[in-house]
Amino acid sequence: MANISIFGIGYVGVVAAACLAKDGHKVIAVDVDRGKIDAINAAISPIVENGLDALVKEVVEAGRLEATDDVQYAINHSDASFVCVGTPSAADGSVGLKYVESACENIGRAIAAKPSFHSVIIRSTIVPGSTEGTCIPTLERFSGKSAGADFGVGYYPEFLRESTAIEDYYDPGLIVFGALEEKTAAILKEINEPLNCHIHSVDVRTAEMVKYTSNTWRAVKVTYANEIGNIAKACGLDGQTVMEILCSDQKVNISPYFMRPGFAFGGSCLPKDVRALRYLAQSKDVAAPLLHAVLEANEAQIAKAERMVRDAGAKKVGFVGVSFKPGTDDLRESPLAELASRLIKGGMGVEFYDPYVHEAYANENSTAGRGNDVVPDLASRIVPELKELIARSDAIVVGNLYKDTVDELGKVSGSKPMVDLTRLRRDLTSAGSYEGICW
Ligand SMILES: NC(=O)c1ccc[n+]([C@@H]2O[C@H](COP(=O)([O-])OP(=O)(O)OC[C@H]3O[C@@H](n4cnc5c(N)ncnc54)[C@H](O)[C@@H]3O)[C@@H](O)[C@H]2O)c1
Repeated sequence: MANISIFGIGYVGVVAAACLAKDGHKVIAVDVDRGKIDAINAAISPIVENGLDALVKEVVEAGRLEATDDVQYAINHSDASFVCVGTPSAADGSVGLKYVESACENIGRAIAAKPSFHSVIIRSTIVPGSTEGTCIPTLERFSGKSAGADFGVGYYPEFLRESTAIEDYYDPGLIVFGALEEKTAAILKEINEPLNCHIHSVDVRTAEMVKYTSNTWRAVKVTYANEIGNIAKACGLDGQTVMEILCSDQKVNISPYFMRPGFAFGGSCLPKDVRALRYLAQSKDVAAPLLHAVLEANEAQIAKAERMVRDAGAKKVGFVGVSFKPGTDDLRESPLAELASRLIKGGMGVEFYDPYVHEAYANENSTAGRGNDVVPDLASRIVPELKELIARSDAIVVGNLYKDTVDELGKVSGSKPMVDLTRLRRDLTSAGSYEGICW
């Protein structure tokens, strides 16, 4: 069992403090608000949350939770501190770090006077780079010690929802953390191991990013459901019924499917259907800002890829894939064809390796080249062999991945400029002449 101090006894801090104490850890809660400190020491929850009154009473009376404003006492009597102070928006919308900075300053001063190792674990929601750019420098400055060597640092975001916070603590949907060294990682593992949830141990900045990705995703889901609900109602339909049926599809709709960063969507359905639903909303005088944004963002992803290919500085580019996805010769609204067409218009030489489109032309299918209204002379730009395409090109655009192309393209990455829109191999990230669109 660990001794833990918790800085900030708000909604996150008090739930974490009470649950950790319930699990048998010794917890010291620290706050600048005297009212909250007095409430805890009187065995009363300082916030209203289901089940918390009884839990705080139980653990305070058992002597496993106390509160103080004496930072040195809290640091001296704990192995690790969790920083759970607020991060309200700054006036310009950026993350407000003043409370985190002030807590780190106080903790840093106390660490200076503590001879043994101490871990500082940030739980407040802070944007990627904040632990490294703000927390660590503040802790080092005020402790005069070195992070990762003299004291530990970790980032461990909280995902609980108010009103079901205790339930969420014991049955979390997600556990992720990053730590600079093993001692801090070990404390986080010990606390989380009893919970029935996979533990993602990653670098600090990835953990910071996951927290924002999670909350923003929740916000996007609410907004999408509301927008669909508004359109459905304007059509005389029950928006909640529509969304319930949508969510019943756990294979595609509510699943990791379509949740992998990469290139723009296209094909014969998605673009035209988003456009049609947006038109329908407009015709019913229903605002649909998210549907507008979806099409705008998709266009921005094509523009981003175009910039990446231009930045590669090649005169002749070989595309692996031109159809809208692998496994089909369908070219309707293929974002790869659109990207190629923009490059051709800009004077670049573009050729393609696409076994499915090639097969359609080779078999003289009546539908060969179907849906292509953007790439001139597509048939003459198809190169049947990948090796030949690679040899003829100054740079490669990996658009679609076909099983037999992975090894061959792997040999090229690093030796020839490569813009990867789908991800050739999971271990590749942008470096040197290799550029992945989102990695
Ligand atoms: N509320 C939620 O549901 C929730 C869920 C997950 C994550 N978060 C994140 O957790 C963080 C805390 O959120 P919250 O809702 O618990 O905030 P809160 O405002 O309820 O509590 C913050 C506490 O920190 C105290 N504090 C401020 N400066 C301090 C200092 N220097 N030392 C000690 N205590 C200090 C305040 O007095 C207050 O009691 C935020 O970053 C938030 O985004 C919140």
